[in-house]
Amino acid sequence: MVIAPCLVAILFMCCLVAYSPTLYRMFCAATGLAGTTQRVIADTAAISKQTVTVAFDTNVAPGLPWRFEPDQRAVTVHLGEQKLVYFTAENLSDQSIVGHATFNVTPLRSGIYFNKIQCFCFSEERLDAHQKVNMPVVFYVDPAFGRDADMHDVAQITLGYTFFRSANPENARDLSRFLPDSPPDPANGREIFSERCAACHELDRNKYGPMLGGVFGRRAGSVAGYDYSPALKHAGLTWTADSLNSWLIYPQKFIPGVKMPVRVPDAASRRDLIAYLQAESLQRIDGPNAASPKSAADGHHSGS
Ligand code: HEC
Repeated sequence: MVIAPCLVAILFMCCLVAYSPTLYRMFCAATGLAGTTQRVIADTAAISKQTVTVAFDTNVAPGLPWRFEPDQRAVTVHLGEQKLVYFTAENLSDQSIVGHATFNVTPLRSGIYFNKIQCFCFSEERLDAHQKVNMPVVFYVDPAFGRDADMHDVAQITLGYTFFRSANPENARDLSRFLPDSPPDPANGREIFSERCAACHELDRNKYGPMLGGVFGRRAGSVAGYDYSPALKHAGLTWTADSLNSWLIYPQKFIPGVKMPVRVPDAASRRDLIAYLQAESLQRIDGPNAASPKSAADGHHSGS
């Protein structure tokens, strides 16, 4: 049989990759496995010393009475570093209005190295009359940018957004989800989970990371059959809204020596993710007929 040696090879790769993000990344790139994983691992494998300046440019098309501006004109980032920036949008009119944003990256040829993590395309977004929100955008520039000779003359990358009045306002989402005091939204948390966690975590199965079903109220580092870092295994803490929040801000600062390479720098995303994990954990305890995820999260969320 030809297939047996292949399986052994794949198994061997899997063992290797469990120990090395860089190898994991190469493996994924070589096999085309899990595009999302590749994307997530990329920023974590190598944060380069090299930096690049990213500038922000915003426009509002005629016919949309909004103000829309970046909170910072430009930032300098290390290649591979995840960066959180904010844009402010304000509806200057007396009516609720749905806007739609397009974005572009210039110079165009640098676009392939500019990676969105989440909340990048603001499509069909509603702002109520005179409402003002800070919208987070998390991005990183692929370290491969620094190795591409064609990029050597690129001193600055510009991310531009233009907001238009939406032609299809029916299915708009509310930009108020980014307000700090808006209620936690487990459904949004589920979406963020699939975008930013599912590459390494499932609810009911250990993967590159431990299974997260029922994580709320669980002791850290305690899932049977998962090979934790000693740091997490002996952290001696229980997962609550507060500890999950600190963990997601920066795992390796919260508990030095842990091996989760991902961060969630924006507070609104953390709030919704935690609400999702909490609702999902409560459902396990109470059974499927218990409170709906939404009310469970609203009722028990201790805030952060
Ligand atoms: C690139 C892979 C990767 C991604 C993406 C990732 N994690 Fe992890 N996560 C890990 C690894 C690896 C561990 C184990 C850390 C250790 O043992 O030090 C872990 C551990 C955890 C733990 C501790 C679980 C326990 O049993 O104690 C939580 C909670 C967690 N991750 C939440 C998340 C959330 C929420 C997201 C999405 C924002 C996420 N992780 C994204 C790799 C990942």
